Amino acid sequence: MKQVAIITGGGQGIGAATAVLAAQRGYAVCVNYRTNETSADSVVCRIRNAGGTAIAVQADVSNEDEVERLFQTTDEKLGPVTALVNNAGILEQQMKFEEMTYDRWKRIFDTNVFGSFLCCRAAIRRMSTHHGGQGGAIVNVSSLASRAGSPFEYVDYAASKGAVDSLTLGLSKEVADAGIRVNAVRPGFIDTAMHASGGEPNRIERVKAQVPLKRGGTTEEVAFAILWLLSDESTYTTGSFIEIAGGR
Ligand code: NAI
Repeated sequence: MKQVAIITGGGQGIGAATAVLAAQRGYAVCVNYRTNETSADSVVCRIRNAGGTAIAVQADVSNEDEVERLFQTTDEKLGPVTALVNNAGILEQQMKFEEMTYDRWKRIFDTNVFGSFLCCRAAIRRMSTHHGGQGGAIVNVSSLASRAGSPFEYVDYAASKGAVDSLTLGLSKEVADAGIRVNAVRPGFIDTAMHASGGEPNRIERVKAQVPLKRGGTTEEVAFAILWLLSDESTYTTGSFIEIAGGR
């Protein structure tokens, strides 16, 4: 069966590492991006230069119509989706909860929570064996923050990842008999550009002493776990969480 993966926010960071590894493992890959076409195109070029199949598709995952277009374009250009990685995510400037605005919370939840909801729904409608689909696997990129809570930095972000955890659990049970597995990874401190959006690009240098393995993780270390959860090596695993957090 042809394997087709959609990686949201796949133009950089964990998403880009996942897209490249998925292509190496034989998936035709849709690299979704919101605004940075250049970086998404460079991931696609890297995959194609290595002999793989990839397309880049612009879509804001928090927009219902754009998510539908993302899945339709993938249907048309690559075939029915068999794997979805809900990787797109945002956080904002570190601050105390009492200082945060309602607009900020809406932005965080629109992308991290409702973006994942919309992509899960679009994927399930296509994958479900109840609707003539071939089944599939979904991996949600949660965060260790869902358990740590991120006090004084971004409680809102942590809470959005808590919602992603509940989504993972509930859906895994609801769609198990439709041939779809739903799992999540919870990365810890991973070396990506995301920390700069919190206002502290060198955050990992400050916090790495708290990690038993005494370092931040790499994007590839997260991608390996995601690809395992998507693969036929994990066919008895659903509703599960893999923490990739150096022992935190
Ligand atoms: P990143 O900032 O490099 O990548 C996030 C990607 O998501 C970017 O390409 C961005 O353009 C895209 N994106 C954001 N909003 C979007 C939207 N509305 N529609 C489409 N794409 C959108 O950061 P990183 O670290 O690679 O993050 C990937 C995922 O990993 C996120 O869900 C993040 O919460 C999660 N994570 C990251 C950790 C870290 O330490 N870097 C730790 C735990 C979880």
